[in-house]
Amino acid sequence: MTESSTLFTPTTIGTLVLKNRIAVAPMTRTSASADGLATDDMARYYARFARGGHALVITEGTYPDLLHSQGYLHQPGIANTAQADAWRKVVDAVHAEGSKIVLQLMHAGALSQGTHWEPGTVAPSAVQPLGTQMGFYRGEGPYPLPAEMTLAEIDAVTAAFASAAGRAKQAGFDGVEIHGANGYLLDQFLTAHTNERTDQYGGSTLDRVRLLVEVSQAVRREVGDDFTVGMRISQGKVNDYEHKWAKGEQDAKDIFESLAGAGIDYLHTTEFDAAAPAFGEGESLAALAVRYGRLPVIANGQLGEPDKAEALIERGDAALVTLGKAALANPDWPLRVAGAAPITEFDFALLQPLANIKQSELEQETLAPTP
Ligand SMILES: Cc1cc2nc3c(=O)[nH]c(=O)nc-3n(C[C@H](O)[C@H](O)[C@H](O)COP(=O)(O)O)c2cc1C
Repeated sequence: MTESSTLFTPTTIGTLVLKNRIAVAPMTRTSASADGLATDDMARYYARFARGGHALVITEGTYPDLLHSQGYLHQPGIANTAQADAWRKVVDAVHAEGSKIVLQLMHAGALSQGTHWEPGTVAPSAVQPLGTQMGFYRGEGPYPLPAEMTLAEIDAVTAAFASAAGRAKQAGFDGVEIHGANGYLLDQFLTAHTNERTDQYGGSTLDRVRLLVEVSQAVRREVGDDFTVGMRISQGKVNDYEHKWAKGEQDAKDIFESLAGAGIDYLHTTEFDAAAPAFGEGESLAALAVRYGRLPVIANGQLGEPDKAEALIERGDAALVTLGKAALANPDWPLRVAGAAPITEFDFALLQPLANIKQSELEQETLAPTP
């Protein structure tokens, strides 16, 4: 792999002009203040990925309201002006290193396991979540039983996503990504077994994707056309890794076509292995998103092997790749790949006992020149 490979060619997604095809995946590190303010350490942490050559950084999931959206203690928010202002130093630090930064907006729904704000969890239906809370985010035992959301609460969440996106634009972000994946609130609406509603938000796949469409439209109305908006979609969930869409490719068609019609600029698919067939055989979820969404697709999942990432882009199955664990272990992954330097394996010890940002990361030597 050299700097002349496709991974290192520029591209444009929405209004984002990107110098290469390598981005950092959203990763919750629960390192904000208790009331959700981004910290100086977070600015240093995110700047490392930019200095290491990633064209784009997608932030950790950030909560949009001070009601029930927070998922984890010490998660950052963008629900008020103070939280939005605190992000400015992160945005500036990434921009100073020549990269773009997109904020991920996340409502945890039934999977909320810690909040500074309103107690109690909400969801499309009062269904007990599968699995148990995550210890590295300070959780323990089963998830609480959520309360079923009223139509007024659904409208308020849609409005909260939109105003949070407006605050992100004001704070200088280059775009927002709506978190429709991994089992959180919007994915709870999309998923048949967590959505038992009999109103317009439940039933067929087209009904279950309705809220994701409405949130996309509301965000677009709020931020206008000159701001990039994306949606992250997955089959698997943090509490249900193996979940597959029941109708296979028909579901992929209904979901990706609906979202693409809602005014977003990109789809970000995440699977355990981005290159694997989505439904046992046939195309990957990323390739299906390209086929049915006809938008730029960002692919995620086990793409830390450069040739594999390159092949996905060469095949046209994605415009961009995002790296999660590979970027944690190699904040300078693009510089390493371009310079044929060895890639370090990710060690889960980094996220123990808690997933918060470690001083060792901030002090880690990289191939990038010291700032
Ligand atoms: C510590 C950690 C935190 C994560 N937090 C988020 C998050 O806030 N939002 C999100 O969409 N995905 C989150 N993910 C999932 C990653 O974005 C990514 O999908 C996953 O790590 C698989 O990609 P990889 O094989 O490149 O690591 C997280 C993953 C890790 C390891």
